[in-house]
Amino acid sequence: MSDKTYPVPAEWAARAFLDADEYAAMYQASVADPDGFWAEHGKRIHWFSPFTTVKNTSFIPGQVSIKWFEDGITNVAYNCIDRHLAERADQVAIIWEGDNPSESKTITYGELAAEVNKFANVLRNRDVQKGDRVTIYMPMIPEAAYAMLACARLGAIHSVVFGGFSPDSLAGRISDCESRCIITADEGLRGGRKVPLKANVDAAIERLGGGVDHVIVVRRTGGAVNMEPIRDVWYHEAADLVSDECPAEHMNAEDPLFILYTSGSTGKPKGVLHTTGGYLVYASMTHQYVFDYHEGDVYWCTADVGWVTGHSYIVYGPLANGATTLMFEGVPNYPSVSRFWEVIDKHQVNIFYTAPTAIRALMQSGEEPVRKTSRASLRLLGSVGEPINPEAWEWYHRVVGEGRCPIVDTWWQTETGGILITPLPGATALKPGSATHPFFGVKPEVVDAEGKVLDGATEGNLVIADSWPGQMRTVYGDHERFEQTYFATYPGKYFTGDGCRRDADGYYWITGRVDDVINVSGHRMGTAEVESALVAHPNVSEAAVVGFPHDIKGQGIYAYVTLMADVQPSEELRKELVAWVRKEIGPIASPDLIQFAPGLPKTRSGKIMRRILRKIAEDQFENLGDTSTLADPGVVDDLVTNRQNKK
Ligand code: PRX
Repeated sequence: MSDKTYPVPAEWAARAFLDADEYAAMYQASVADPDGFWAEHGKRIHWFSPFTTVKNTSFIPGQVSIKWFEDGITNVAYNCIDRHLAERADQVAIIWEGDNPSESKTITYGELAAEVNKFANVLRNRDVQKGDRVTIYMPMIPEAAYAMLACARLGAIHSVVFGGFSPDSLAGRISDCESRCIITADEGLRGGRKVPLKANVDAAIERLGGGVDHVIVVRRTGGAVNMEPIRDVWYHEAADLVSDECPAEHMNAEDPLFILYTSGSTGKPKGVLHTTGGYLVYASMTHQYVFDYHEGDVYWCTADVGWVTGHSYIVYGPLANGATTLMFEGVPNYPSVSRFWEVIDKHQVNIFYTAPTAIRALMQSGEEPVRKTSRASLRLLGSVGEPINPEAWEWYHRVVGEGRCPIVDTWWQTETGGILITPLPGATALKPGSATHPFFGVKPEVVDAEGKVLDGATEGNLVIADSWPGQMRTVYGDHERFEQTYFATYPGKYFTGDGCRRDADGYYWITGRVDDVINVSGHRMGTAEVESALVAHPNVSEAAVVGFPHDIKGQGIYAYVTLMADVQPSEELRKELVAWVRKEIGPIASPDLIQFAPGLPKTRSGKIMRRILRKIAEDQFENLGDTSTLADPGVVDDLVTNRQNKK
């Protein structure tokens, strides 16, 4: 926590869309009369046929239903492309910066229209229709955005799977939503290393035993790949045969736009479902106000399109606003740790949005790699994905932004579709580490374990009391799970899974997850998923996974592993288990520490006491709490001794 406050710079108060008084008045209006407020702001997108109703939502358990603008007819791709053509056909829509600094290109809105229409026609020729699910497993190349927009144009529902996921994880996501069409590339390229995307798709389909009719392969590296006759097609060959005109399907506001799988505290990843109208209104409005996006600005969000940040703030929000959005294929430390800052200078980026883990990693190399670049074009900085510690915030502000750029610390989730708690750069005095205040229409509350609403300066769990247009609508194929996960803990409220403190000035400080979800380098990981990967190994009898504080990643993955009776622990086995989890889920799930444990602390009914395991992983041995209810309290002493010996 930091007590420092940074007032709105005079230059910002003058140029921004909103100052503090305007924000306060607009926020008040948004919560006093949501129907009136969103009726007005719903008009920011183009409707083929306007909506006549605005908000129709219920958080009541058993009847949870979320609908916005439900009789309006629109199309997301039309809004992101066609609508701009009269004025901006020659304006750059996407700046693409390759992994290799010698590779970059720009795509104008006019070119984007032709590319997306061609992609849509390629899909249409493979019988992709409104409502069909299409899995996109792509590197960060413009075709990833074309593919998403092409689906939106046809009314097909895309499910983008991050290119770092393993064939097994990909297979699970393909089968859950029954996609019959997959879009991928031969290989991805990150930090000079190749990622075998097509080979992973082949392995995933093999695991599923078929069920996929079409695989469309974009050529990125030119590496050799297996092409299955009939099923597989090169995108460039198919695209040569089709027209660059394709009508945009008329979509109801509540027709699904995309599914995005995300980890929860239990079970398999959930297919978070977002729909058309409310999502786009919310993504575009937050993009405009939070980043104070003005005509001509160059905006760069460093996320991957495999995560929600890439959906809302690389593709849909910026393009709906007619913005110039930068898409980066590479990583922050290749070819050198100056890469981010060099890209900013090369493309004269004004607004830069990244994750705390990247800042912390780059901080380690000191100021010189930053200072040697100009960054004079930068005006605004953003942070997302996990709490930003005040030291990283101060460094980002002082070194990267030379003290002149406000930082918008944006709190939100895959489920929320867009940013919910955030500063607005012309309106909000900043406190390092605080996400500050709610966006329009968002009603955060802090509650205690029983759900009692806490007033004033306080700490507890964060809930949202009412719906906003960007909210997820359901878990794909499992509405019951949607209700149970988000609306059963505190009936009538949306439970975020995050802890939160509110200070005496009414600022919100997100303290991290309060459930069994951990946040590793801003990537969300369910401890249960890593556990089930570990126990799938033949030598493992039991596993319990918790998060622990990690200097760069925010949280690291700590796994307690009990081996089968006849297996001896060894360094070799430890390495094998790490490699095993990488193979099962993907590199982002690699355990940082594995402790072999002859036994795990369990209650007499057999429930693992994670609270204790978390404390041991955090080295808080004095603070283990009551261990008397354990079936075998001696287990804890063994774990502590082992942990201490490892240090
Ligand atoms: O714990 C919060 C953390 O990331 C979680 C959501 O993860 P995901 O769905 O993957 O979406 C990440 C990008 C929106 C939240 O429950 N989180 C996200 N942003 C912040 C944050 N924690 C603190 N401060 C933030 N700005």
